[in-house]
Amino acid sequence: MKIAVCSTQSYDRQFLTEANREFAHELTFFDAHLNEETWRMVAGFPAVCVFVNDTLNTAVLTNLAEQGTRLIALRCAGFNNVDVQAASDLGLKVVRVPAYSPHSVAEHSVALMMALNRKIPRAYNRVRDGNFALEGLLGFELRGKTVGIIGTGRIGAAVAGILHGFGCRLIAYDPQPNAECLSLGVEYVSLQQLYAASDIITLHSPLNKQSLHLINAAAVAQMKRGVMLINTSRGGVIDTPAVIAGLKSCKIGYLGLDVYEQEGDLFFQDLSNQVIQDDMFERLLTFPNVLITGHQGFFTQEALTSIAQTTLQNISLFEKTGECQNQVTMELLR
Ligand code: NAI
Repeated sequence: MKIAVCSTQSYDRQFLTEANREFAHELTFFDAHLNEETWRMVAGFPAVCVFVNDTLNTAVLTNLAEQGTRLIALRCAGFNNVDVQAASDLGLKVVRVPAYSPHSVAEHSVALMMALNRKIPRAYNRVRDGNFALEGLLGFELRGKTVGIIGTGRIGAAVAGILHGFGCRLIAYDPQPNAECLSLGVEYVSLQQLYAASDIITLHSPLNKQSLHLINAAAVAQMKRGVMLINTSRGGVIDTPAVIAGLKSCKIGYLGLDVYEQEGDLFFQDLSNQVIQDDMFERLLTFPNVLITGHQGFFTQEALTSIAQTTLQNISLFEKTGECQNQVTMELLR
């Protein structure tokens, strides 16, 4: 099948080309993000392969459908950047990669916790500068601390497994409790109870109507003073101004982010020679207790291999049968 691959980086080319030896699709790579300005570059391709920062709103989907596109193949799990209702109305199928080594994201979440707690970036810079003072580097033991996990699907459960090994007390909030977590001794509580009891709060829910700006001023007000907040899910789960206020008042003691609500204009590109125009993002960078990575939770050899294979397999299945078990349906939005 002829596939237009949007937002291509060198690693997308590498892993998709490698996996495509088995599938023999016709891949055309585009560096640009897909959006209302750029959709013409992929006009006429029956399948369009996209990533988290491509925009598939009604206008883009309508244009693509009119030009003959039949399939949108997401090479990621989240689908909040696709207007699924519009796609369904237009008869466009949307498929995704629901699971690809949840451990990659889980391990990155715990890496953020550890790096923030033991102040690894500051320590690294100090030692390189010949400064071996320990003042300001004091950490705490994870053993015995209460960690609140919001969203215990594949990634949240993998985080629970790792932190169980650290000897943490695990509590969680999820409308659908996970049997694997229950068997680890995770206690399901209300959001209010989770905010009040957690030393660390880690976010692993998808972005949906219920989770949009879940971490707002009211939520921060209920948290323990000095709480550590980790978000590797989607930027929109956090109301960033509320979290900045929480950092300024020292209510939030540590913030680790791999995602940011306005990341579409920043992440996955080298802007080191430009002036960053996003003042909120720049404010976040001024705090000594904030650690941000640019959406790299998924970025491991294992995950990229799995993403490339599942993406091309989804497309092959659609081509052969018109169906695919990894389809994004309206059901998933409920
Ligand atoms: P999953 O679908 O296995 O689990 C999501 C869980 O969240 C489910 O148990 C669901 O019941 C729960 N949930 C839904 N709405 C909720 C709410 N309002 N509050 C609390 N829980 C809620 O998804 P998975 O694979 O664990 O991924 C979670 C999210 O992580 C993805 O949706 C995606 O946004 C993000 N992600 C981030 C990556 C990164 O590189 N940083 C890579 C992959 C995923």
